[in-house]
Amino acid sequence: MRIDILTLFPEVFSGFLQGSLLGAAHCSGLIDIRTTNIRDFSTGTHHQVDDRPYGGGPGMLLMPGPVVEGVEFVKSSDPMPSHVVMLSPSGRRLEQSMVEEFSKKPRLLLLCGRYEGFDDRVREILQPDEVSIGDYVLSGGEVAAMVLIEAIARLLPGVLGDPTSALNDSFSGDERLVEGAQYTRPREFRGLKVPDVLLSGDHGTIAKWRLEQSVQATRRRTHTLTNTTPSATSRS
Ligand SMILES: C[S@@+](CC[C@H](N)C(=O)[O-])C[C@H]1O[C@@H](n2cnc3c(N)ncnc32)[C@H](O)[C@@H]1O
Repeated sequence: MRIDILTLFPEVFSGFLQGSLLGAAHCSGLIDIRTTNIRDFSTGTHHQVDDRPYGGGPGMLLMPGPVVEGVEFVKSSDPMPSHVVMLSPSGRRLEQSMVEEFSKKPRLLLLCGRYEGFDDRVREILQPDEVSIGDYVLSGGEVAAMVLIEAIARLLPGVLGDPTSALNDSFSGDERLVEGAQYTRPREFRGLKVPDVLLSGDHGTIAKWRLEQSVQATRRRTHTLTNTTPSATSRS
């Protein structure tokens, strides 16, 4: 899979891309991630990429020229078609099912905003898939892009040492359950013992117990979410 990232801060990605699973996946050719600086597509002498919003208001907006031209250039650098994703707080909220869809694409192009975001003509021209990583505002799309990349990479064949571990993760499978309680050594810690069933060696019973734990954890989470999520319209 190839992932292109368009950003004003390519240096932010260097440690992230070299470390751990992603570094290994890159070295073994499972994933090819490249960064491009949006500023390289600015035509002005001062390499300006942002300007004040028409109509007034705080902050600066990314100008359409460098962003659109940067995307067009990166797209044309490889005949493989790319799915353009704009990281944006107003996009559809990222979920595991979307990550699974993205992981099947041969090529993604991630567009990271900064300042107050993009001039809207970027969206009109590129018609990107707008993705948010949650209902809060970051200063830039870089961390959001890293979230997306890390979630996708886990699903690519060969990236995880044990391919079944992603299948058993939270939000995977048809039921989208979260993972239940898990334990490792020691058998007892501060008076808390590992449940006997996990030491029984009976794989059928263990699988049944794990499923029950998963269902209970999912119910607890659903209960917490429905009791704490404020409605967007509840402001008075
Ligand atoms: C400071 S934010 C712009 C916020 C914008 N003025 C608004 O109110 O929606 C700058 C950039 O950070 C990224 N960003 C911020 N929050 C995000 C989120 N929750 N999910 C994805 N990207 C986000 C986007 O790329 C955005 O263009």
